[in-house]
Amino acid sequence: MSYLFPTYARWDVTPSSAKGAWLTDKNGKKYLDFTTGIGVCNLGHAPEQVKDAVEQQLEKFWHTSNLFQIELQEEVAKQLTEASGLDLVFFANSGAEANEAAIKLARKATGRTKIVTFTNSFHGRTFATMAATGQEKIKTGFGPMLETFVYAPFNDLSALKEVLDKETAALMFEVIQGEGGLNEGDQDFLQEASALAREYGALVVIDEVQTGIGRTGKPFAFQHVGLDPDIISSAKGIASGLPLGAIIGRKELADAFSPGSHGSTFGGNPVSLSSAKATLDTVFDDSFLAQVNEKGEKLVKSLKEALSSIPQVKGFKGKGLMIGIELTEEAGPYIAAAREKGLLALTAGANVIRLLPPLNVKEEEIEQAVSILTDAIKEKAYEKTTAGN
Ligand SMILES: Cc1ncc(COP(=O)(O)O)c(C=O)c1O
Repeated sequence: MSYLFPTYARWDVTPSSAKGAWLTDKNGKKYLDFTTGIGVCNLGHAPEQVKDAVEQQLEKFWHTSNLFQIELQEEVAKQLTEASGLDLVFFANSGAEANEAAIKLARKATGRTKIVTFTNSFHGRTFATMAATGQEKIKTGFGPMLETFVYAPFNDLSALKEVLDKETAALMFEVIQGEGGLNEGDQDFLQEASALAREYGALVVIDEVQTGIGRTGKPFAFQHVGLDPDIISSAKGIASGLPLGAIIGRKELADAFSPGSHGSTFGGNPVSLSSAKATLDTVFDDSFLAQVNEKGEKLVKSLKEALSSIPQVKGFKGKGLMIGIELTEEAGPYIAAAREKGLLALTAGANVIRLLPPLNVKEEEIEQAVSILTDAIKEKAYEKTTAGN
């Protein structure tokens, strides 16, 4: 009997402790965690420098409210603006809340209401961000959505031209669609789409909730593809597992977010911010990010060597340490087999095994993960092939 609404299809794993890339369950079984709380614990579980910073903040004060001058908010906002090239920050508590803020800001700043997003996108589970999401399964049963969201197929410029117009407040997208299947936006498409949006006077809003904070080997994924957004949203990895979200935007938008226009009781909580400050100090360092790229390349190379010959393995996707293995069939049974053998991985869309290891994962942990995954995939693929005969 559970006292919880059954909103999640939970695994049969009950964590008792977690450190670095490892999670131990209540039976003492150890798992190599390549889910990192769905791209959240970018420095692994309980990183020492973050733990120290949070403990120091807990000694000072936990919560006041946004009626006060919170120095840590200024400090973390400075880190985020310097890393992104944007100017001003609003703090929220989650990815969906950050996207809500982005949507409200884009509408108020432009005086328009229409927002164009892409099919297979994912922007969150609040009402507006659910409506923004380009996946029917997320919306089923909730009745009419907000009419002002319009969807275009990803990577299709002529289709986008059909829907962008002078009524459009914003074009909103992920550079790599995370939940939708690790679908990468083509550089040319994203640049032309953004330029077109601007021609109509619409803002370019990039959802960096999953791709940001070093996950793809740059502070933010838009920096791989030469984009120049007006607003980006961030959450997940920003505070190593304490709840925090943020939007970072251009200073020209400041008037639309004047006092009283938007807010959050918990947004920019000092404890979460102490965690964010210590996390970003490490993650936004150039040499740290160079290692994320090296490790990502190593992981993909090892995966290709080990898995390419398996007929059910269709290909490899992603950037930095946001990696997908695309299968010819549903990924769920394969990640269940890997979990059984001690590796935690995720799905993305129906057919992709998604790996989001800690950004400071060790070489030997990468090798171990590839070895477990190879055993699991080979075993499942063999079972499926023989079952079909
Ligand atoms: C791209 C993207 N945007 C928004 C969200 C929603 O974030 P949260 O679950 O923190 O509300 C997610 C979560 O997976 C995401 O991947």
